[in-house]
Amino acid sequence: MPVIEAKSVYKSFDGITVLKDVSLNVNEGEVVAIIGPSGSGKSTLLRCLNQLINIDSGSINVCSMSMVNTDEKGTCKYADKASLHKIQLKTGLVFQNFHLFPHFSVLKNITDAPMQILKMTKQEAQNKAYELLEKMNLSDKANAYPYQLSGGQAQRVSIARALALSPAVLFFDEPTSALDPELTVEILRVIKNLAKEKMTMVVVTHEMSFARDVADRVVFMDNGTVIEEGAAEKIFTNPSSERIKQFLQHFSV
Ligand SMILES: Nc1ncnc2c1ncn2[C@@H]1O[C@H](COP(=O)(O)OP(=O)(O)O)[C@@H](O)[C@H]1O
Ligand SMILES: [Mg+2]
Repeated sequence: MPVIEAKSVYKSFDGITVLKDVSLNVNEGEVVAIIGPSGSGKSTLLRCLNQLINIDSGSINVCSMSMVNTDEKGTCKYADKASLHKIQLKTGLVFQNFHLFPHFSVLKNITDAPMQILKMTKQEAQNKAYELLEKMNLSDKANAYPYQLSGGQAQRVSIARALALSPAVLFFDEPTSALDPELTVEILRVIKNLAKEKMTMVVVTHEMSFARDVADRVVFMDNGTVIEEGAAEKIFTNPSSERIKQFLQHFSV
């Protein structure tokens, strides 16, 4: 079943087109890695899929629900507010810089949204939070504040926070780029474990060996377009486009 169906998405900022005819499908249980040089539109694409920014034209469906559509005349129309809210709950986003609430404890960072948005009771939200903290190997940090955490711990809390809303798909925007190599490994291990549990994920990353190892499919973006996509093994060993070959030369995969 498709979780994400994005078709011919266009997005401009100040007259500059940063997404040009981008299409992306993600099926249930699939892990898709998006790679590509800085400025190629990877973050913008995730933000469009997560409703943080609106697209100019194209269509996006999430779990077979229409978020936005463009008719033959080129008029781009978003679903009504209630539908958009429902759709947004299907998607979670983990940022590069964690974005935890600094004045909330770890526990409250995780329980706040499920209580406010899903109307879980405090007890239900806390049970779920403790379960997720255990999974993230952070049971002892429930009462800590974000400033008391290492970068790797903070990122694991932000992953737990996203999972607490039980999204159908989790987006990661360079989840390890603010971390040193040791902590990077720790986060990549968490994502790999989620992949084993068949969590549907889209991961923007510069960790090429991770992408090769964990992703079912790799999408290479450059200059606002998808240049090539395919099985990880194919993209890394035998890509069709010269541009990917050039890009991959900067990495040892
Ligand atoms: N809010 C914004 N306003 C103006 N330009 C933006 C905005 N967000 C991104 N851009 C531009 O869009 C292009 C793609 O950016 P981004 O999606 O962040 O690329 P990537 O994540 O691949 O590095 C860049 O040229 C960037 O400067
Ligand atoms: Mg980015």
